[in-house]
Amino acid sequence: MVIIPRPFLIKEKGGFFRRSGAVHCSGNAEFHSIMETVQQHFNGLDGGPIRCTKEESLDGESYRLDIKEDSIDLSARTSSGIYHGFQTIRQLLLSDEAIQCVHIEDQSRFAWRGFMLDTSRHFYSVAWIKKLLDALSLHHINRFHWHLTDDQGWRLPIKQYPLLTEIGSKRLECRPVWGRYSGGFYSHDDIRDIVAFAAARQIEIIPEVDFPGHASAILASYPGLGCTGGPYRVEDRHGIFEDVLCAGNDSLFDLAHAVFDTLGELFPSSFVHIGGDEVRFNRWNNCPKCQKRMHDCGLSSARALQSWITVRLATMLEERGKTAIGWDEVLEDSDNYCLPSDVIVMSWRGRTGGDAAVQRGHKVIMAPNTEGCYLDYRHSNDPEEPGQIGLSPIDVLYNFDPLNGIEAALHTQILGAQCNLWSELIYAGKIAEYMIFPRICACAEALWTPASDKSFERFKADLNVHQQRLDKLGLNQYRINA
Ligand code: ACM
Ligand code: ZN
Repeated sequence: MVIIPRPFLIKEKGGFFRRSGAVHCSGNAEFHSIMETVQQHFNGLDGGPIRCTKEESLDGESYRLDIKEDSIDLSARTSSGIYHGFQTIRQLLLSDEAIQCVHIEDQSRFAWRGFMLDTSRHFYSVAWIKKLLDALSLHHINRFHWHLTDDQGWRLPIKQYPLLTEIGSKRLECRPVWGRYSGGFYSHDDIRDIVAFAAARQIEIIPEVDFPGHASAILASYPGLGCTGGPYRVEDRHGIFEDVLCAGNDSLFDLAHAVFDTLGELFPSSFVHIGGDEVRFNRWNNCPKCQKRMHDCGLSSARALQSWITVRLATMLEERGKTAIGWDEVLEDSDNYCLPSDVIVMSWRGRTGGDAAVQRGHKVIMAPNTEGCYLDYRHSNDPEEPGQIGLSPIDVLYNFDPLNGIEAALHTQILGAQCNLWSELIYAGKIAEYMIFPRICACAEALWTPASDKSFERFKADLNVHQQRLDKLGLNQYRINA
């Protein structure tokens, strides 16, 4: 029986489920809205009656499933448990093969099972993001990290700063044949629509606004926020740029206040990702305002100045009841300038940053680019494969264990992990799908299934069945068994 991620416990019984036409869900009123959502998933699939029961003894995301010859019983304590159970049923109904009667008990290994989409380097439609969220939820992915700003485009309207979208959302297209300005942004209605769509699928959306680097789109819109005053442009090149937000200018925090207020109105999540990666210090080292700030605050290096900004941003979020997440650079020099211990560190440059962060008492989300988590990297070293920078083979991602090398007493500080898709080269959703699927299936199994039950050989064989299901959802995929 093929289910990805592989459930905690599967006991196959004698006999087969008899498909009897349309799926009909019934059960506890508390699960009514989940049943409405999944009813759409089951449109056109041959199924039968599914009964949902509330079961107080089960943990948050856990569910129990009994598939009998003439009906399916699903029980859980929470809506997310019920939703995950429905996705397991959906997988089985998406295959044409006979469904064996079975008893399943299922629970997740990690709480944070994430995926990050970069919508700055290229812009994706609301409809496509929904298609992606739906496909992610089929695999119990429960966090969508939405990278909304970067050098190549600002996608989040801020009432007090209209130029961020008027100027900052458009760049001179780098593919010269097109020779036009391209870009876009998500209206507040678009964002609310996507957040609600995700929530109905038990996915929490965590917005990221990257400060103080990756700021070309901000600087092009408001040049006064830079150290030199410009000129600046929304970047059409790839890379890491010298110009960052001026740390000596209090206007940076006026902007952050407006951004955090807007995020607070749009995103119910208790987390906000504040970026912090790849900040170049040349401008700060040569800027009188930045130098004055360092002197006034007793900061001995530009790195310490970045830590000072991180602490201020994290504190502003704390005042709004939110917890800051930062890329692992936010940890650097925090020996000298202490980062509040509730800041969550996202480890991307391998796992070194995450390992150091747990030692210092931080919670950590692993996303190491060295262990398959970067889906903009190529599937294989076949020169015909698209992708950038490195390799993320599916077996490496499958065998990735966020807890590897971390002493047992610190395991609870690892919230989980995620895959990231940077989109410099990914100019359309169909290309994104090819980079995401089926690697995200391997990630889902690495984060959900007990480590002792993982087997890449079994998973690889399972994909023969599972990729046909993803075909039915219209997803473009890399063929692992081709
Ligand atoms: C990153 O990949 N720059 C976080
Ligand atoms: Zn400056």
